[in-house]
Amino acid sequence: MPQTLSVIKADIGGYVGHSAMHPEVLDTGREELAKAVQSGLLIDAQAQACGDDLFLIMSHDHGADDEAVHRFAWDTFLAGTEVAKRLHLYGAGQDLLTDAFSGNIRGAGPGSAELELEERPSEPVIVFMGDKTSSGSFNLPFYKMFADPFNTAGLVISESLHAGFSFEVHDLKDHRKIMFNTPEELYDLLVFIGSPGRYAVKRVVTRSSGEVAAVSSTDKLSMIAGRYVGKDDPTAIVRCQGNFPAVGEVLEPFTTPYIVEGFMRGSHYGPWMPVGLAQAHPTRFDGPPRVVALGFQLADGKLVGPRDFFEDVSFDNARREANDVADFLRKHGPFEPHRMPLDEMEYTTMPAVAAKMASRWSEL
Ligand code: F6R
Ligand code: MG
Ligand code: MG
Repeated sequence: MPQTLSVIKADIGGYVGHSAMHPEVLDTGREELAKAVQSGLLIDAQAQACGDDLFLIMSHDHGADDEAVHRFAWDTFLAGTEVAKRLHLYGAGQDLLTDAFSGNIRGAGPGSAELELEERPSEPVIVFMGDKTSSGSFNLPFYKMFADPFNTAGLVISESLHAGFSFEVHDLKDHRKIMFNTPEELYDLLVFIGSPGRYAVKRVVTRSSGEVAAVSSTDKLSMIAGRYVGKDDPTAIVRCQGNFPAVGEVLEPFTTPYIVEGFMRGSHYGPWMPVGLAQAHPTRFDGPPRVVALGFQLADGKLVGPRDFFEDVSFDNARREANDVADFLRKHGPFEPHRMPLDEMEYTTMPAVAAKMASRWSEL
């Protein structure tokens, strides 16, 4: 029977400031998920946190975009928001942008990634959780996993990967999508996904079998609300082994802490630091941005895991490099390219300052 793995996430209140999640909020998520498993809505589920975001990892057989699953996630975020309000946590309910649930969580604020699959006899998957960064941040790691032979040896030497992968790219501004086949359309693909603020990889498909290999959340909060309301803090799900890259090939891109948008006030670029759950609480300059990788074996829809991959020592160098890059970028203070370009900053005083200075400009 086809199964669905849905990861739906939201920031419903931070502890302290925007740095982490209060244990009582996480407990509320766990309690609600346990009830949904008990009632039979979900096969299995886990609540996890990265920074100030709550990630509901849910296995079920209702397919993607299921109203009951989405409503359950929304109600769980509401229950967590009540706890956040009681504890006066920071930004309680900040990602819940609509007053009432209207059938689908998409467009309502929370981010979602849903992957439908026919479970193999052994089904390894990795759930990625990001904080202090944006949708589109998985473009570069997905490119490396699924299209770069210097990252993924299987593209060259494995029969099942050699036919390549297709990338579904979403234009976040004009709300349209397109497919690119790699390797033959690599250069065309890169023209778009090299600009992750506008173009985000939503899905990657295995060309040999047509199976979906990876999905990411591409919900952009500022485009939903029409103003800055917080970072998107994306999630992604990747299938591994066999027709898909090996676990180690999926994790390999994160040995370099590539620069993403989302450091301090969503207005600075910073290195994306791979961390274990115990270090997933952005602290310095509200960052650096973090990414956690949780591995699961699916067993008839049960989530066997997680394995907290980035706590491994082999990511120590990436963390060291991230700290070095953060030190270097911070020295630029309010200057680009640490600060984001004027029209991309989430916070700006420009209209007010420009109005104040308007009469003082003169012709050159
Ligand atoms: C939140 C974030 C933080 C905040 C900053 C200011 O995702 O990135 O850096 O933008 O802490 O927050 P406010 O405006 O809520 O005081
Ligand atoms: Mg927050
Ligand atoms: Mg966050």
